[in-house]
This record gives sequence, structure tokens and C-alpha cells, in this order.
Amino acid sequence: MTTMPPDCTPASGPVDAPAMRTAMGHFATGVAVVTTALDGIPHGMTVNSLTSVSLSPPLILVCLTTGARTTDAILSADRFALNVLSTRQEQLALRFARRGEDHFSGLPVKTGAHEVPVIPDALAHLECSVYRALTAGDHEVVIGEVSKVCSREGKPLGFLGGRFSDVVDRGHEPVAWFF
Ligand SMILES: Cc1cc2nc3c(=O)[nH]c(=O)nc-3n(C[C@H](O)[C@H](O)[C@H](O)COP(=O)(O)O)c2cc1C
Repeated sequence: MTTMPPDCTPASGPVDAPAMRTAMGHFATGVAVVTTALDGIPHGMTVNSLTSVSLSPPLILVCLTTGARTTDAILSADRFALNVLSTRQEQLALRFARRGEDHFSGLPVKTGAHEVPVIPDALAHLECSVYRALTAGDHEVVIGEVSKVCSREGKPLGFLGGRFSDVVDRGHEPVAWFF
């Protein structure tokens, strides 16, 4: 049986948003911008709720606030791209997290397959079609099937405890089962 450290006693009663944020803040992630286009208008938002789901077929998932402009555009267009950000793109992460702005104003973008905009200099682009989508609480869980992928070398932008962070490579051997 594992014993709980003294400073980690579960509070009684319903789990509130700050407690969830604090707990999940220990789960470090990368940062990406999810982009799409609907009727020729580009949309995008910063996300960190991104994970790999399956290699065969290649599936990823991302959780998007229900009713956000980008969420609605993705669900209508059925297509989106994920742009994995580098440490040089922190300002871009902030730009795409501001509500109600024209996130693409003055931003050079390339157009990927199916007219979906992709952000140049991102560490990776994953171009996807919507494979499944389901509502869960106040978010839409969107599973994407990846049709095109490209990656380049660089330092990924991290997100930890509600702050942007570096991801440190400890120089260890790759974990055996991963490759
Ligand atoms: C680091 C970071 C990670 C975020 N991750 C998510 C996420 O995974 N899902 C989400 O719905 N919003 C996330 N947000 C918030 C959205 O980026 C923000 O609400 C965005 O402005 C919504 O775009 P729109 O409503 O203009 O389309 C994140 C914000 C930041 C700064």
C-alpha cells in the first residue's frame, strides 16, 4: 500500500477548477497551435491538451473549449493542423490564446493540404481530418487522423504549472520501447 505524503491530502467535497489546474499543472506538456480554415477565413488557438492516440492508423487527440471560434470552425471544416511550437514561439502561443482577436493579422503563414494554414518555423506540422469528436464536459474531444506530418530540429516550448518552460534533454539513451 502506498502512503500519501503529508502535504497531499485529498480535500473532501467536489473537485474544484483551481485544484484540477494545480494537479494537472504538474503534468508537463508541450505547446501547439491548432489551425483551420472555414470559408477562406483562418482560425487558430493555442493548446496543450494534445496527445498521441494511435500509430496505426495515426491518430492524435486535442480537447477544445466548446463554443470557441476555432472549435466551431474545426468541427465544420472537418480538417485542422497542429503546429508544435518551439521556445522561440512563446509570443505566438500568447497571440493564439487571446480571445476575440484576429490571430493571423500580419502573420506569415503557409497553406497546407485542404487550405488549412500552417505556421512556418513550427517544430512539427500534423495535418489532420476529424476522425471522431465527442462532447465531454465543457470541451470537445477531437480525434484527428494524421494525413501529413513533418518535423524539424529545435527546442520544444514546454508548459508547466501554468507557465511556459524549457524542456531539458538529459542526454539519456532513448527509452527502449519507444522506438
Ligand atoms: C499554454 C496554453 C494552453 C492552452 N490549451 C488549451 C487547450 O488545450 N484547449 C483549449 O480549449 N484552450 C486552451 N487554451 C486557451 C485557448 O488558447 C484560448 O481560449 C483561445 O483564445 C481560444 O481561441 P478562440 O476562442 O479565439 O478560437 C490554452 C491557452 C494557453 C496559453
